[in-house]
Amino acid sequence: MTAHIIDGKAFAANVRERVKGHVTRMVEEHGLRPGLAVVLVGEDPASQVYVRNKGKQTAECGMASFEHKLPADTDEATLLALVNQLNEDATVHGILVQLPLPKHLNSDLVINTIAPEKDVDGFHVVNVGRLGAGLKSMVPCTPLGSLMMLKDYHGDLSGKNAVIIGRSNIVGKPMAQLLLGANATPTIAHSRTANLEDVVRAADIVVAAVGRPEMVTGDWIKPGATVIDVGINRVPAPEKGEGKHKIVGDVHFESAVKVAGAITPVPGGVGPMTIACLLANTVTAASRAAGLPEPSDLTV
Ligand code: GUN
Repeated sequence: MTAHIIDGKAFAANVRERVKGHVTRMVEEHGLRPGLAVVLVGEDPASQVYVRNKGKQTAECGMASFEHKLPADTDEATLLALVNQLNEDATVHGILVQLPLPKHLNSDLVINTIAPEKDVDGFHVVNVGRLGAGLKSMVPCTPLGSLMMLKDYHGDLSGKNAVIIGRSNIVGKPMAQLLLGANATPTIAHSRTANLEDVVRAADIVVAAVGRPEMVTGDWIKPGATVIDVGINRVPAPEKGEGKHKIVGDVHFESAVKVAGAITPVPGGVGPMTIACLLANTVTAASRAAGLPEPSDLTV
C-alpha cells in the first residue's frame, strides 16, 4: 500500500478557476475588479520569481495586478509612504509586501502599516489577533491552502490529533489556530521538543514546516496518517549531474509514502496552493470592501 497523493497543483488550478468565476461576476454585476498590489524591495532572485508568478496568476484570473519594484537601498520612509498610498487607493483590495525585506528595513513596522482589511498575507497583528480570537480575519495563505486540502481529503477534522512541526508566525502558529477552529487537537512541536519522533508518531495529521530537508522519515509517521509537507528546500542533486539542485520537502517522501494514508508531494503540493489562496484572499478582501457576500468556496 502506498499513500494517496494529494495533488496540490490540480487543487490550486481548481481554486484559481473558482477565483476567476467570482472575479467575472464581480466585474459584470458590480463593476468591481479586485486588485492586488505586490511590493518588492531589492533583487532577491527567489522573491523575483514569486512576484512574477503572482503577477501572472493575478492577471490570468481577471484581477488588476499592481507591481511596485523598489531598489534595495530604499529607505523606510519611502516604503511606508508607498504602503500608505496603497492603503488609500480604492482600486487596491490586497497589499502584499514581499518578505524578506533588506535588513535595514523593519518588517514588523512595514507589515503593521498595511491596512488590516487589505493585508492578504494575514501577517498584521490585528489579523493575527482576530484569527486567534475566532473573529473574521485575513488568513495566512500557506496554512489556508493546507487546511483546504485537509478538509477536502478528510471532510470533518473533529477528534483528529494534529502535530505541526515548526512554530513560525507565517505557518506553524496560524496553522494551529485553523486546526483548532476545525475541531482538531493541534500540538505545535519545534526544534526543542522532547521526543519529537514520538510526538509525531501520535498524530493523525502531520504538518511539517521546519525548513529542514527530509527531516521527517517514514518511521516517524503513524500508519495511515495524513502528511502535509510545507517545506521547500533546495539541495544538491549530484544524481542529476554535477552542480545540479533539486527541491525537496521537510518530509522524506520515499519512506513516508509507504506508511502514510495521504501525503502532499514537493513540488506540487502545498506550494501551488499558497498563491491560489493569495488570489482567494484578494477576492475575499474586495467582497468585504464592497459589502458583498464573501465567497464561501474560497475560505475554510
Ligand atoms: N516570501 C515568501 N513567501 C511569502 C509570502 O507568502 N508572503 C510574503 N509577503 N512574502 C513571502
